[in-house]
Amino acid sequence: MNRHLLSAADLSRDDAVLVLDTAEELARLADRPIKKLPTLRGRTVVNLFFEDSTRTRISFEAAAKRLSADVINFSAKGSSVSKGESLKDTALTLEAMGADAVVVRHSASGAPHRLATSGWIRGSVVNAGDGTHEHPTQALLDAFTMRRRLTGGEGDLAGKRVTIVGDVLHSRVARSNVLLLHTLGAEVTLVAPPTLLPVGVDTWPCATSYDLDGELDKSDVVMMLRVQRERMNLDGGGFFPSAREYSRRYGLDGRRMGLLPEHAIVMHPGPMNRGMEISAEVADSPRSTIVEQVTNGVSVRMAVLYLLLSGSDGIGEDA
Ligand code: NCD
Repeated sequence: MNRHLLSAADLSRDDAVLVLDTAEELARLADRPIKKLPTLRGRTVVNLFFEDSTRTRISFEAAAKRLSADVINFSAKGSSVSKGESLKDTALTLEAMGADAVVVRHSASGAPHRLATSGWIRGSVVNAGDGTHEHPTQALLDAFTMRRRLTGGEGDLAGKRVTIVGDVLHSRVARSNVLLLHTLGAEVTLVAPPTLLPVGVDTWPCATSYDLDGELDKSDVVMMLRVQRERMNLDGGGFFPSAREYSRRYGLDGRRMGLLPEHAIVMHPGPMNRGMEISAEVADSPRSTIVEQVTNGVSVRMAVLYLLLSGSDGIGEDA
């Protein structure tokens, strides 16, 4: 593995499978009464969050703590960043504290890349979501969830059909998923209104469609994306006529769920707009993996921190 995890494209097929297999071993730990391993004792992991987050931040914190690392949580609100301190000065402060890994979320696409290549810090940089660009650990936890649900554990995602639906334009989750799933041999189709597909999507390793109903009966996975209103102006900002119209064309409701094959699963990275891209009936159905995705996120992030910081090829017998 590389020293940093900035993009899903940083992972070869072998790297990705190693992360998923390691996460599978670490997940067994969650069933033990004592959930902690001494592996990263004495190491410091800094969670550097310039943008709001619930799941990702808590998940990285839990992952680092279960590996016995010291964890420093830094959120931009309430820090000197709100006084105008730059990314560089923040990074130099973290370096002075001896951070072994910096997990960073930032509204600017490319901020983690800047941290990793600037020479300001020596530790590993993990991208926890940068602007509309990438969110590689989300893609890894999604792949882990698909593997568990569709293959019963350590099987192969090659040939599985994954349909990713909605606000692709603003979604770092979509881009990272397309890249990782392609590496793992799955076939991805993006479904969205033309206004919510990014320029250049034709160069991504996936298919595109505007017709959700036409894709459902051949999907093994349907991944619904949140409509990211905070990255648009006002209600939809001209990207679609109205919330109601969006739901009618691109929302997943009970009727549409009925068009899926029996074994197919429904995913969503959270946070959800219930009633918009996904109905409550679907979100709470047994096909939905939304809560499992959060649980799996901890195991996958443990695997990532373990592999980046211990420089080992696998977790071995001592787990
Ligand atoms: C995603 C994110 O922040 O990119 N959520 C997450 O990490 N769980 C998706 C989103 O915000 O819609």
